[in-house]
Amino acid sequence: MSGSQRRSVILGTGSELPAKIVTNRELEQMVDTSDEWITVRTGIRERRVLEAGKGNADMAFPAARRALEDAGMEAKDLDAIIMGTVSADYPMPSSACVLEDMLGARNAFSFDVGAACSGFINALSVGDLYIRSGKINNALIVGSDTLSRYLNWQDRGTCILFGDGAGAVILGASENGSGILSTKLRTDGSYAKTLYIPAGGSLRPASPHTVRDNEHTIAMNGKEVFKTAVRAMEEISRQALEEAGVDIEQVALVVPHQANKRIIVALAERLGVAMEKVMVNLEKYGNTSAGSIPIALDEARRQGRIKPGDIVLMNSFGAGFAWGAAVVKF
Ligand code: ACO
Repeated sequence: MSGSQRRSVILGTGSELPAKIVTNRELEQMVDTSDEWITVRTGIRERRVLEAGKGNADMAFPAARRALEDAGMEAKDLDAIIMGTVSADYPMPSSACVLEDMLGARNAFSFDVGAACSGFINALSVGDLYIRSGKINNALIVGSDTLSRYLNWQDRGTCILFGDGAGAVILGASENGSGILSTKLRTDGSYAKTLYIPAGGSLRPASPHTVRDNEHTIAMNGKEVFKTAVRAMEEISRQALEEAGVDIEQVALVVPHQANKRIIVALAERLGVAMEKVMVNLEKYGNTSAGSIPIALDEARRQGRIKPGDIVLMNSFGAGFAWGAAVVKF
């Protein structure tokens, strides 16, 4: 952790959750489930759903504005906007381009990164490398997903898990020894169909048949995801810590992807981290996919759980399978 190296530092954070709350009790009216089953198996009590007529960038916009304000920056100062999302406003252009226009960030180049629930860590890693290379001096990194639009509200195995939300961070450059110490990314495409949306892409474009057969909604083998997620997140966290030259004991807070409380508890156990040092907010929002880590990070900062000098470990896992970790010194 030498002081003279150029690194990306987190200058500000922001998040946005849609106003509409869907509780477990409300889901009891829609599918054969119970508040108790959902709470015990997942830890989730309620989730947010974006109102009709709004798209992914409508959620990302206030999150980005709050992050800019927190960093004391204006949108026109941004060099890049990189958004982790798999639920862009349109198949094309990218949601980052839609957001760029909303912000009036005319000097930024913008693109999306598609890595499902790992989207934020992947976007963060790309932004970090751009900044460290000296190519740009700052970037808005967003994780934003609207998976409520891709849920089969008759499938109790999936509709109880997800919610909508967006989080954002502003990265700047610094040589004072703090900042992103390491990022690690992995994928295993042989699991592509363990968690996916079968239709709507180029292989199976939308047709009356795909709509009739509910192929535009998330299909998942939950058990397989659970098992692999815990193992993969533990391994990649250890690799990211090693690359950063940081011991797990030095980590002040773990901010994991918020998918399932049991996944988080199992991960913390395997890493040897007490739950007091793990940020958990999924009971309020469910799994917000790429939104989950930056939302949790923003909440943790605003609750005073991250202080200057603290080292934070973030780790993610999702469709692909794609997973990752980042070690950041604040
Ligand atoms: N309410 C009541 N019963 C249910 C529900 C529900 N919502 N969902 C499933 N069940 C039933 C099943 O039908 C099954 O019944 P059966 O025994 O009669 O066949 C029983 O409960 C057990 O089902 P399992 O799938 O074995 O339950 P499990 O304990 O594995 O929990 C869950 C399911 C919550 C989906 C879990 O596997 C999980 O969280 N997996 C991770 C999935 C995930 O997080 N995906 C998000 C994307 S990836 C990521 O972000 C990490």
